[in-house]
Amino acid sequence: MDIPWIIDLDDHEASGIRDFTRYHANGEREEVMSAVMDGLGPHGLYNITDTIMCKMPTGVTPEEASKMNHEHRLGFELFFVDSGSMYLYLEGRRCIIKEGDILQLQPTQMHSMASIEDVKWRGFFHDLDSFNTSIAVNQVASRLGPDVKQDPAFQKAQGTKDHRRHEQPTFVDVPAETVNAVKNPARPLAKFDFPCLTVKVIVPRWENWGVTELVLGEMKAGTRIRWGYHPCREQYYVRRGKVKLSLFGEERIAGKSCVINVPMLAPFSLEALEDAEVYDVGGQTEWFNFLLDYHSLRTYSPERLAEALPALKERDGVAIEAIE
Ligand SMILES: [Fe+2]
Repeated sequence: MDIPWIIDLDDHEASGIRDFTRYHANGEREEVMSAVMDGLGPHGLYNITDTIMCKMPTGVTPEEASKMNHEHRLGFELFFVDSGSMYLYLEGRRCIIKEGDILQLQPTQMHSMASIEDVKWRGFFHDLDSFNTSIAVNQVASRLGPDVKQDPAFQKAQGTKDHRRHEQPTFVDVPAETVNAVKNPARPLAKFDFPCLTVKVIVPRWENWGVTELVLGEMKAGTRIRWGYHPCREQYYVRRGKVKLSLFGEERIAGKSCVINVPMLAPFSLEALEDAEVYDVGGQTEWFNFLLDYHSLRTYSPERLAEALPALKERDGVAIEAIE
């Protein structure tokens, strides 16, 4: 089946995304959870959910609201905090994360959250069997009836082994800036400036077991990037601004909160219609190593750059043909 080229996370109805609401005992909403894309391949890549983590219910303290403390044995979770704020409890520490932050959780990191306000919580995962087949499960459940999802035998047959529950967490308060898992584009690990583009490394590959990395392209309005034949599916998340996708002779607009999917090998271009922040959430291109070597060549041996570049691009899966 063809993948949807553009998915607007701010418009679930238009994007065909189904929402499931969970409630607290007092009837207030706890979360509105939506499976956006199931995972692909042995690492369950390109797996996305979009959740509203609802404000803590009336009369409940943050500590009581943080009882969902858990870890993932093998799964990696990356969340864009796209509105509101929440307490994050992480391995004995607590901090406040807010709109603009990005949370990168590695396996075995014990975590729970308590929302101070409603939080738009956009999740991008790999190696996480909890959400890897959510859409497939929902499709079967829609045929068998909604109660089937509560059936222990149905749950067991899904084979998820990744989730491990823990006790309600104790904690000390710390600033978010001191917690490595809390990322923000204002504090990139590395930054590379080009005339019409700034590339920021937000999550390096070594924090993702070598499987993915998270890189942000800050495109100035009018910038156009063209890709040739690329070896993997490409997946981007537009967090700010607006870009035009050109693919197979068609043009589509992706604004704020849109996911862009491009089938493997298919040449395409992205053009910033206004200043835009575009994250490579598929994470297959080895941008960080490529940019470090590119910068080294430009600094130490500029005369070798033109000759060395094709091999460098091939090694790191960089299929960009032009930045205009
Ligand atoms: Fe989790």
